[in-house]
Amino acid sequence: MSEKGQTIVRMKGISKAFPGVKALDQVDFDLRSGEVLALLGENGAGKSTLMKILSGVYQRDEGKLEIFSQDVEVGMGPRRAQELGVAIIHQELNMCRHLTVAENIFLGREICDKAGRLNTREMNRQAAEVLASMNVDIDPTTIVGSLSISKQQMVEIAKALSTHARVLIMDEPTSSLTGREIEDLFTIIRQLQDEGRGIVYISHRLEELHHIVDRVTILRDGQFITTLDFDKTTLPEIISYMVGRDIKEKYPRIETPKGKKVFEVKNLHAGRLVRDISFSAYEGEIIGIAGLVGAGRTETTRAIFGADPKESGQFFLDGKEIFINKPMDAIRQGVVLALTCPPILVPVSELVEI
Ligand SMILES: Nc1ncnc2c1ncn2[C@@H]1O[C@H](COP(=O)(O)OP(=O)(O)O)[C@@H](O)[C@H]1O
Ligand SMILES: [Mg+2]
Repeated sequence: MSEKGQTIVRMKGISKAFPGVKALDQVDFDLRSGEVLALLGENGAGKSTLMKILSGVYQRDEGKLEIFSQDVEVGMGPRRAQELGVAIIHQELNMCRHLTVAENIFLGREICDKAGRLNTREMNRQAAEVLASMNVDIDPTTIVGSLSISKQQMVEIAKALSTHARVLIMDEPTSSLTGREIEDLFTIIRQLQDEGRGIVYISHRLEELHHIVDRVTILRDGQFITTLDFDKTTLPEIISYMVGRDIKEKYPRIETPKGKKVFEVKNLHAGRLVRDISFSAYEGEIIGIAGLVGAGRTETTRAIFGADPKESGQFFLDGKEIFINKPMDAIRQGVVLALTCPPILVPVSELVEI
């Protein structure tokens, strides 16, 4: 393992364009052994793209990349990056839901016996070992699809650790973890750091950074802004670099008059996740629906829109009850749903009727 504090990753002048977007423009980045470096920036700043280049998922258009003092040519794929000691835990979960935990952990690097047969027992043993080192209670023979989202995220982390990576990239690892799980993850991160690994930590939860972070690198609109020692900066300073202006108040208080009740949902039940949901929306109001991944937020909106069947519940628009059994009922009455994924397919025949 390299000595602590040595530069183990060096990226210089990295550029990357996607059709119509310059995702990265001449970005510099470096990572040292034994540090946790937070890579920060607003949504779309280019954080994931930069880390996908470092881990061989994307190819850079321009710039130099050095991993453990080795020049890396354009063309490095994920497998080569892994050989060089780089592992990434993606923002989006990348699990095969129908495979077991151990099968997922060893996907693409299965352990075989001398006759070339899968050595399931050994993979289960090693998977159990990694999971135990993380202090998580997951049986390696469990089918991944039956685990909660947060447990699946723990399996992703176990997968990265099992490659014995010396550069570990975590892209928003806590976005669906609960408080206790986040604490466990921080314990794991400190342990990895003590072993001299370098960790890139991407998170939009700035308030959690002080638990683990040594340095921060800030990107804005695909450009490198600055790198700072965490203990020599402050959160307001970090935020001002991220957004490019001084922020006096993160969420300024704006008064808006509350008008009359426009929409009401009463005792909505749909599927396993949506149980007895009631709320009202007033003129001029924006209502946030908060909850962890899997809490039923999307399912609630889909049930209201008629995209999923509901068992019971009532909707009122301007005080009058309306009936929504399919998306077109909702659209006709002026209730629409903007969803990114998965798309709701409305049959063309219904659209023509409008
Ligand atoms: N595969 C892709 N195809 C097209 N555009 C992309 C792709 N990946 C990222 N982008 C664009 O590149 C920019 C940077 O994205 P990203 O690296 O995901 O930012 P961040 O992780 O900081 O939120 C955004 O404008 C995004 O829309
Ligand atoms: Mg991202």
